[in-house]
Formats: sequence, structure tokens, C-alpha cells
Amino acid sequence: MEKLVSDGLSRGSVVPETYIFPGEQRPNTVRTCESIPVVDLQGGSEDEVVREILKAGKEYGFFQVINHGIPEDLVNDMISVAQEFFEMPAENKACYYSEDPRKEPRLFTGQGYGKELSLYWRDCFIISAYPVAKFEHLFPEKPDNLKEIMSKFAPEAKGLAARLLRLISIGLGLEEDYLTGNRSGGPVKMVFNYYPRCPDPSLTLGLPKHCDPNLITLLLQGKVSGLQVLHDDRWVSVDPLPNAFVVNFGLLFEVVTNGLLKAVEHRAVTNHSLARTSIALPIRSADALLSKDNNPPLYGSFLFPEFFKIFATKKTDDKEIMMEDFRIKG
Ligand code: SIN
Ligand code: FE2
Repeated sequence: MEKLVSDGLSRGSVVPETYIFPGEQRPNTVRTCESIPVVDLQGGSEDEVVREILKAGKEYGFFQVINHGIPEDLVNDMISVAQEFFEMPAENKACYYSEDPRKEPRLFTGQGYGKELSLYWRDCFIISAYPVAKFEHLFPEKPDNLKEIMSKFAPEAKGLAARLLRLISIGLGLEEDYLTGNRSGGPVKMVFNYYPRCPDPSLTLGLPKHCDPNLITLLLQGKVSGLQVLHDDRWVSVDPLPNAFVVNFGLLFEVVTNGLLKAVEHRAVTNHSLARTSIALPIRSADALLSKDNNPPLYGSFLFPEFFKIFATKKTDDKEIMMEDFRIKG
């Protein structure tokens, strides 16, 4: 299992050649004191919260939510047990390792496209988590309490996603179930990311610059920072807040809102002394897409399966190239 970064590489003192990114893509050390907006879900009337979410979405495409109602112990347990999963001996994880993207659940290490073949300093485990009754037979037996914690966490996270989509729909002047619609019971995957400590973070990336394809993504990060968001051509660190979820809009949302709420590029950098774990929940429900009466419409109308099929053929992290097939040409 030497293919996983968590199995050995992080203990070395040099970064193997295959993990070194080309110079122009490497993370620079410039730090701004800027931070992405924080939305307190209990911080005002519903109208105020809706306004804050839309403002953050328009300005940054990213925000953190606090006071979301999911118990702090459950959030902390979820991150800890995900980290324990990656830190188990190789033989406990071997059955999940696969290079076939259709396999599920699946453990793998990412790699760039085309000429940019640098390996990512990240291991990733993707698993369908909700509805629990449908997928719990896939939940790993080890670490011991992973199954139990995931079974509690997945419905809570799904509930938070539905709540946020409802607030966003209201903010966009849509019917409140417009984005969740009859798919509100739709399945949700969990993406566990593990970025082991890295001997030289200036040469590597956990994840290079990309936009998420989803409607929105909810992200839980532990106590170690690493997520950076591109804002006005500068990388802004999303520093972890206790019991907060990071929320960002994906490419599908940009299509849905005709460019009003944009998918913003982001990346994950590595850390010299600490391993970092994050858990992403890609939220993809939405049967009917908008992108209609807007003046002038930028994108065609797509149903999600069609959108994702086209997206999956795009072997690039470049947002412009990714979106070109969805744009109305003229
Ligand atoms: C992601 O962009 O999907 C994950 C980023 C992170 O781990 O912070
Ligand atoms: Fe992402």
C-alpha cells in the first residue's frame, strides 16, 4: 500500500519527485490577514441570516457557519474517527484501496490531469453515507466506533445542508424547496480527506486549485488549517473555527443562478508538523435548474445527471474550460 501518502511517505524527510508540483503551481507563503465571512445561524432573524449568506456568497463564494445546531461532540468525534481511519495500519485499509473511480467505498490518492501529473499529498476515502439504512452495510467496521458516529453524523449534516439550501432559495426569491425539491431525501456522500505531515509543504499540494462541481459543499475541518480560497487574485486561508462548517458554492450553483453566486477556486496546502483531516459533503440535489429568464442567460438548462456526465469528461481543474460546454454560445 505504498501508494497511499498515509502509509510511509509522511515519515520520510524528503518529498519524492512524483509529488513535487511545477513551480508556478506551488503554494507561496504570502498570507493575508483577511478571512472569509462567518454566518451565525442563530445570530438574527431569518431575513438577516439569509441576507448574510447571500452577501458572503456574492463576495467570497465561501463562508463558515456557526451555531448550526449539530452537537459539538458529534462534530469532533466525526473528525477524530476519520483521522483514526487513515492512521490505521495499512492492512486494515487495503480492502478499500482502488484505482477504479466507480468502486465504492473507495480509498485512493489523487493525481492531476494531462501533463500535470504530480500526485496530491492527500489520501481520500469516498463513501455514500445517507440514507444511513441504505448504506450502513458499507460503513467500515474499523475503527470500532466509526459506524456509530457516521450513522449519527450523516443525517445531521444532511439536515444542515437542506436548511442552508432553503435559506439560499428564500434569498434568491425562489420557493423555499426549490433547491431541495423532491430530492431532499436524495443520497449524500462523505469525502474524507487526509493530508499527512509533509517534509516540505513549499513543494506539494494536498489539492491543487479547483472548483467543486456541486450545488454546495459542506466541509468540516479539524483544528489544522490548510484550506485556501482565491479572492481578488490572493489566497485567503480559511482558519478553523471550533464547531464550524465551511460552505461553498459549486459550479452547478453558478449555472443555476446564472452567475449570480459563483463557484470560487480553492486549494489545500500541506503542513510541516501536523496531519490534517477534513470531511466534505458534496450536495448535488436539484432536479430543475434555473438559468432561464435571466438577462441574458449565460448557461443552458441542465438536469444534474446530464451536468455531471459532461463535467466528468473534463480532465482539467481550469474553471473556464470546465464551464465552456455549459455556456450558451453566441
Ligand atoms: C476540497 O476542496 O474538496 C477539500 C478542501 C479541504 O480539505 O480543505
Ligand atoms: Fe473542493
